[in-house]
Amino acid sequence: MILKTIIKQIKQYRTAVILTPVFTSAEVFIGVLIPYITASIIDKGINQSNLEAVYKYGTIMVGLAFLSLLFGILAGRYAAYSSTGVAANLRDAMYGNIQRFSFSDIDKFSTAGLVTRMTTDVSNVENSIQMLLRTSVRAPLNLISSFVMCFFINSYMSLIFVCAIGILSISLYFLIKRATKLFQQIFQKYDTLNSVIEENVNAIRVVKAYVRENKELSKLDKAALSLYTLNVKAEGLMALNHPIMNMVVYGCIIAISWFGAHQISEGTLTTGQLTSLFSYVMTVMMSLMMLSMIFVSVTMSVASARRITEVINEEPDMFNPDSPLLEIKDGSVDFNNVCFSYKKGGDYALEKISLHIKSGESVGVIGGTGSGKSSLGSLICRLYDVCEGSVSVGGVDVRCYDLKVLRESVAIVLQKNTLFSGTVLDNLRWGKEDATLEECRQACRMACADEFISQLEEGYNSKIEQGGTNLSGGQRQRLALARALLKKPKILILDDATSAVDTATEEKIRTAIHNSNKDSTKIIISHRILSITDCDRIIVVDNGMVCGFDTHDNLLKNNNIYQDIYQMQSSGGEGDFDAKN
Ligand SMILES: Nc1ncnc2c1ncn2[C@@H]1O[C@H](COP(=O)(O)OP(=O)(O)O)[C@@H](O)[C@H]1O
Ligand SMILES: [Mg+2]
Repeated sequence: MILKTIIKQIKQYRTAVILTPVFTSAEVFIGVLIPYITASIIDKGINQSNLEAVYKYGTIMVGLAFLSLLFGILAGRYAAYSSTGVAANLRDAMYGNIQRFSFSDIDKFSTAGLVTRMTTDVSNVENSIQMLLRTSVRAPLNLISSFVMCFFINSYMSLIFVCAIGILSISLYFLIKRATKLFQQIFQKYDTLNSVIEENVNAIRVVKAYVRENKELSKLDKAALSLYTLNVKAEGLMALNHPIMNMVVYGCIIAISWFGAHQISEGTLTTGQLTSLFSYVMTVMMSLMMLSMIFVSVTMSVASARRITEVINEEPDMFNPDSPLLEIKDGSVDFNNVCFSYKKGGDYALEKISLHIKSGESVGVIGGTGSGKSSLGSLICRLYDVCEGSVSVGGVDVRCYDLKVLRESVAIVLQKNTLFSGTVLDNLRWGKEDATLEECRQACRMACADEFISQLEEGYNSKIEQGGTNLSGGQRQRLALARALLKKPKILILDDATSAVDTATEEKIRTAIHNSNKDSTKIIISHRILSITDCDRIIVVDNGMVCGFDTHDNLLKNNNIYQDIYQMQSSGGEGDFDAKN
């Protein structure tokens, strides 16, 4: 499954993927001949004082070296081309699928997790593809061909190689086994570190406001320290590689010199052949070393590849129906026995909700933090799907509509809104792409955003930073509201959308909205009872259930919870019965 997904992304680079090993092999075969030619220069040229032979073999050697270099460069180019290409494809594929994700898919992976997968994990895979294409071809080929050449020169001496390879393989095996385990632990620690950093940086204002910097630093220190300890261990282990290898190489050289000296005096080996044997020893040992490196890198990237394919192959749990409805009749909303939970099999956030909201009605929703107000709102524009029952808009189940059509007709404004980097106008036009300046102004006037925008230096063309950090919370909310109003939605849901706006301005906004789109349904979710008292009817939510749906006056007479909220907020002077919301 993992392999299949990755291979699918490689397909486009088929030629490069095939050419890289081909060029690498050519590079290796030619390179391996060079020490053999060196032997000829020494034996036939230098030892016999034959300058002509030195020139002849010298030219051949330079020619071969040049060819080997050429093939090496080609192999390197194609390897880089295909591995970076595959990395780009993987990122594209992930990003493409993430765009299809529903809210619950994103909840599942977490934003930090998705970012790590798109960056670190892709780089890991990219590196090991490059390694696999080049080194995994070069190392074994080098090993075998050098060995064959040794055998060809002197079969007796090649026995020394066999011993050396045996010793090195066994020690590398144990080393790597331990190191791989450590590296796996290191990866998990990276995840922890990333999530600490992400949480902290995202909430930096809160951290500073609560003077929690030192606490946060120590949290980071802890994560970094455990990563450090593991890394020191793993790298220390890997550093053993070199001394071991050196010992084996020098052992080989001593053994070859010892036996070689004997053979030379007996006349069965030439000095030139002895020198080439030394080169081959180095090549063989280096190849073994590289093989072990590949092993480590590939095991590490398998974990990354798995994390990547999870994202690519995730089937979004929300999709368009086969023959979607493209029109929404009116703004009526019906909840028919709805149960909803954020996790499959988890606790219900909403239970057995049945509601009927008429088109054009203005409805307030009130309840404590975590009572399920926001969940109720997000079901109407199908940010999440219900577990049981159904939600209907315009008399038809929301799951039958085209998602785009539905979300164009049902606008939701959240308490915390995202603005994008760009100008004020750019942001407004997210609501309606071809909105004229006058339309935008009108929407802004309704949302009481016009006054502060005209005070900005460049008015509607002022720049907004990423996330809207150069605006106050209330200004951001008003801009988001204007953006939603531009859509002229059939249903407008305000989920605590004016929580950061002062009461007087909120009042103005409310009146403007009530008077403007007379036939659109307005659902106003709030924790401030004053924000909703003038709604036609009010839904009282408590602990995931609806415990009242009536006019303000009737609820005040009959509903205990509503009475409590009303009393608390009108007498306490606090305004909020739960300021946390
Ligand atoms: N994205 C989410 N994933 C899991 N649980 C959630 C999520 N959002 C809200 N909840 C849970 O659902 C319940 C209702 O939350 P919510 O509808 O946001 O309440 P309210 O808007 O009234 O404060 C709470 O218990 C909350 O912890
Ligand atoms: Mg909420």
